[in-house]
Amino acid sequence: MSQRIEVAVIPAAGRGTRMRPATRVVPKALLTVVDRPAIQYAVEEAARAGATEAVLVVDLDVGHLIQQHFLVENRLPGIEHVRIRPVVQEEALGLGHAVYEAREVVRDRPFFCLLADNIVRPGKDVLPALVDSSDEGKTSVMCLRRLSDEYLSKYGVVIPAGGEHDEPLELAGAVEKPGVERAPSRLGLIGRYLFTPEVFDILDGVKPGHGGEIQLTDAIDELGKRGRLRGSIADSDLLDVGNPLGLLEASVELGLAKFGYAFESQLRDRLGS
Ligand code: G1P
Repeated sequence: MSQRIEVAVIPAAGRGTRMRPATRVVPKALLTVVDRPAIQYAVEEAARAGATEAVLVVDLDVGHLIQQHFLVENRLPGIEHVRIRPVVQEEALGLGHAVYEAREVVRDRPFFCLLADNIVRPGKDVLPALVDSSDEGKTSVMCLRRLSDEYLSKYGVVIPAGGEHDEPLELAGAVEKPGVERAPSRLGLIGRYLFTPEVFDILDGVKPGHGGEIQLTDAIDELGKRGRLRGSIADSDLLDVGNPLGLLEASVELGLAKFGYAFESQLRDRLGS
């Protein structure tokens, strides 16, 4: 039986510049998709994969609103058994720094990391496959998608150690947003990770990289150099709710999943089909 991962780290301190003016006051992670905030989907996904603790890394200004959402109504269906543990990121120094802030709660346990901007499509969970590739929690495993050219400058891209079809897929490193010219492959990091606690030691020494930020991808690169990094290619992409068009697309897809024909018939009427 594969190891159960108890804890999930969900960085949620981003202020959402691509979602202004909606995010002038409300944190990006609390923007509604159908009937619940984006971050609740991530907590529910982690719970389905067996996590019983969710470390939410929030910012100093509005992070308390995220905390309140879960703690006011702490019997939210599907996540009744998840202990919510907010951690404050005092300075916006980058995604790698946000994950590092969770170290004292996670301690020496392997953990999931989920970026709340990305929501899995209904019925397409990816975390169980990461656990299956993790060698009983001894190796970090990255969820990957094959990217088209335009996305090679928007995502972290991994360096395969051997063939791209190897099983398990061993990785030698990763580069943050390399663009077409510098991309070592087309396999992109899509916001779902399983890390060994070793990543905290590495993050401790990571210097600001791409965009002047402490990049999680630079720590992933070091895991690859140490030979303890694998990939798991997802058979479906994730819904990106960090921009207005993506949020609309996600609302339609998740709305169809929730309301079925009642919503589909309205869409068809509007589209005249
Ligand atoms: C972050 C990561 C990047 C990853 C992406 C997935 O970038 O830095 O490596 O591919 O999330 O969504 P961001 O979207 O925060 O710019």
